[in-house]
Amino acid sequence: MNSFDIAPSILSADFGYLMRDIDNLKGTCEYLHLDVMDGHYVNNLSIGVPVIKSIRKHSDLIFDTHLMITDPERYIKAFADAGSDMITFHIECTKDCGSLIDSIRALGCKAGIAIHPDTPIEEILPWADKCDLILVMSVRPGFGGQGYLEGSTERIRRVREAIDAAGADTILSVDGGINLKTVREAYDAGARLLVAGNAVFGAEDPAKAVTGLKECITV
Ligand code: DX5
Ligand code: ZN
Repeated sequence: MNSFDIAPSILSADFGYLMRDIDNLKGTCEYLHLDVMDGHYVNNLSIGVPVIKSIRKHSDLIFDTHLMITDPERYIKAFADAGSDMITFHIECTKDCGSLIDSIRALGCKAGIAIHPDTPIEEILPWADKCDLILVMSVRPGFGGQGYLEGSTERIRRVREAIDAAGADTILSVDGGINLKTVREAYDAGARLLVAGNAVFGAEDPAKAVTGLKECITV
């Protein structure tokens, strides 16, 4: 990924009008971030396979599925079959990142690893060139609309250094509290796929919100 993009998270959309909200993005971005929560790894429940499968029929966006679930191994095939393009699991939720990455890739998807803000960043650095995406969580996973945690910027920087040192093209993503005030800081630290839920779908005009976030970086 040479430039950058915003990945709107539908967690903050109106689920009663989901396709309307997604269509409201009007070609301002290429990715859609899909948050899956199981009530075990995080204290919340969200969407799962049927919702992703349904919106797949109506959207050409790149589906960036973020699994906040225990036992991701059991569900990756279902999420691949539902139409995910990228599947990201949490490093805290598996004992074998390597074979999970292989299995996700074998299903035809890009494989991402997410890291919780309480997990030492060193744990993910060895994976910098061994997966397709690293997702640095900048809030505690589970809910949209939280504030960007201080310290996230330094964590992004550390992962950026590791990716660059390895000469890899792994996508560096950040998730949580990204808004007009924080997006530039995360980008400057090296994040290139910036997830934004509340800042996009909490806005009156989601398309304008995405454009506004992008302008914080390009202007
Ligand atoms: C939180 C989710 C995020 C969430 C981000 O656990 O992983 O993707 O939707 O929401 P905002 O941008 O509102 O912090
Ligand atoms: Zn997410």
